Amino acid sequence: MWEQVQQTVDFITEKTNFTPEYGVILGTGLGSFTDEMTIDYILPYSEIPNFPISTVQGHKGALVFGTIGDKKIVAMQGRFHYYEGYTMQEVTFPVRVMKQIGIEKLVVSNASGGVNPNFQVGTIMLIKDHVNMMPEHPLRGKNDERFGPRFVNMSEPYSVKMIAKAKEIAQELDIVVQEGVYLALQGPTFETLAEYRMVKAIGCDCVGMSTVPEVIVARHMDMEVFGLSVITDMGDAENIEAVSHQEVLEASKKAEPHVRLLIKELIKQY
Ligand code: HPA
Repeated sequence: MWEQVQQTVDFITEKTNFTPEYGVILGTGLGSFTDEMTIDYILPYSEIPNFPISTVQGHKGALVFGTIGDKKIVAMQGRFHYYEGYTMQEVTFPVRVMKQIGIEKLVVSNASGGVNPNFQVGTIMLIKDHVNMMPEHPLRGKNDERFGPRFVNMSEPYSVKMIAKAKEIAQELDIVVQEGVYLALQGPTFETLAEYRMVKAIGCDCVGMSTVPEVIVARHMDMEVFGLSVITDMGDAENIEAVSHQEVLEASKKAEPHVRLLIKELIKQY
C-alpha cells in the first residue's frame, strides 16, 4: 500500500506541481462545490494510477485542484463506497494520497437519513461524532507505522475547533445548522423502519453509507477533520415511504448553496 500511495503521489505532483493544505470530499449531490474554486487542474480518477473508479449516479469522478481565497485545495468529486464492492483499502486510498501530498485538514460531506425528530429534509448537520457499524474496518490487517499507529485514539474524530468556527460562520451567514452523531451502515439498502428505530435508540441522529472509513483513515494519519451531513430524508413511520435515491439527490441539491458557502468560508477563515 505504501508503495502504491507513493506511486500515485509521484504521478500527481508531476502533473500538478501543487501543494494543497485542504482536502475536501464531496458527497452525493454536492459536486458543484468546485464552482467556488479557482481551478488549476482536474485529474479524472480514470487517469490516476491505483485509483478506483466511482460508479454511482450523481457522483463525478475527478480530483480537482485549485484555490479558495489564499487556501490551496484538492476536492474529490465523487467518492468510493464500500457497497460498490471496493475494499476498505480502496475506499480510503485517496485519503492516504491526500495526506502524502501534504494535506493536514480534511473536510468531508455526505447525505444521510435523519432520525432526530428536530431534523427535517434539508437540515445541515455538523458531525460531532460517529458510530462505526460498517462490517469491515479500514485499519484491519498489518499496521504500517509509516502511516500511523496500530491503535488510534478516537476521542476527537471531528475537530472541536473546526466545528466551533463553522458554527460561528453559520450564524454570521444566517445558515441554520444542527449538530449530531452519524451512524455508518454499509447499505446499499436504505434502512427498514426497525433499523431507523435502532439508529435512534443507540443515540445517533442520522445514518448513511459513507464517510466513517475515510475519517478513520484520516485520524490514523493525524489529519484534522471536519464533517457535515445533509439530511435528505427522514427515517420515521410518516416519511419512510418517500426514501429513494431520487429524494436524496433532490434534497441535497436544495441544500447545496448553503453547504457550499459554509465550507468555502470555513476553509477561507480557519
Ligand atoms: N440511509 C442511509 N443512507 C442514506 C440515507 C438513509 O436514509 N439517506 C441518504 N443516505
